[in-house]
Amino acid sequence: MALVLTDAERHLVLDEMRNFLAVLQTISEALPDEDMKSVAAAARTMGSGAANEIPSETVAKLPDTFKQLAGAVHTSFDTIALDAESLGDPKHTMGQVGEMLGKCNACHGIYQIAVPKRAGGG
Ligand code: HEC
Repeated sequence: MALVLTDAERHLVLDEMRNFLAVLQTISEALPDEDMKSVAAAARTMGSGAANEIPSETVAKLPDTFKQLAGAVHTSFDTIALDAESLGDPKHTMGQVGEMLGKCNACHGIYQIAVPKRAGGG
C-alpha cells in the first residue's frame, strides 16, 4: 500500500526510521556487555514520549493500521527500557527486541511511501 506524502514528510518518516536503526545498534552493542543502563537510555529515546516528531497534519494522512503499528513499536521501546532497568536481564531484552523487529517487518510488508511527481516532471 502506498502512503502518499510530500517529499518533506517522506524525509521525516525516513529520518525516524534511521533513528530506530541507530537505537537498535546501540542496544545490540550494549547487550553483550550487559550494560542495561545504556539499553534503557537508548530505548527511551524511541519510546512513546518521543512519538511526536511527526507533525499532526502528517499524522492525519497516515492510515490507522500504520499508526497502530508505529504506536506498538514505540510502546515496545517503552517496555524494553522499563524491563532493562527493573530486570537487568539481557536475554529477556533480546527476546523483546526480536518481538519488536516483527512489528518493524509487519509494517514494511504493508507500506511504501509514494511522493506524487510534480507537473512538468521533477
Ligand atoms: C508503522 C510502519 C513502520 C514501522 C512500525 C517501521 N517502519 Fe521502517 N519504514 C516504514 C516505511 C513506510 C518506510 C519507507 C519504505 C519505502 O517507501 O520504500 C520505512 C523505511 C525504513 C528504513 C529505510 C530508511 C531510509 O533512509 O531509506 C529503515 C532503515 C527502517 N524503516 C527501519 C525500521 C525499524 C528498525 C523499525 C522498527 C524498530 C521500523 N522501521 C518500523 C514504515 C515503518
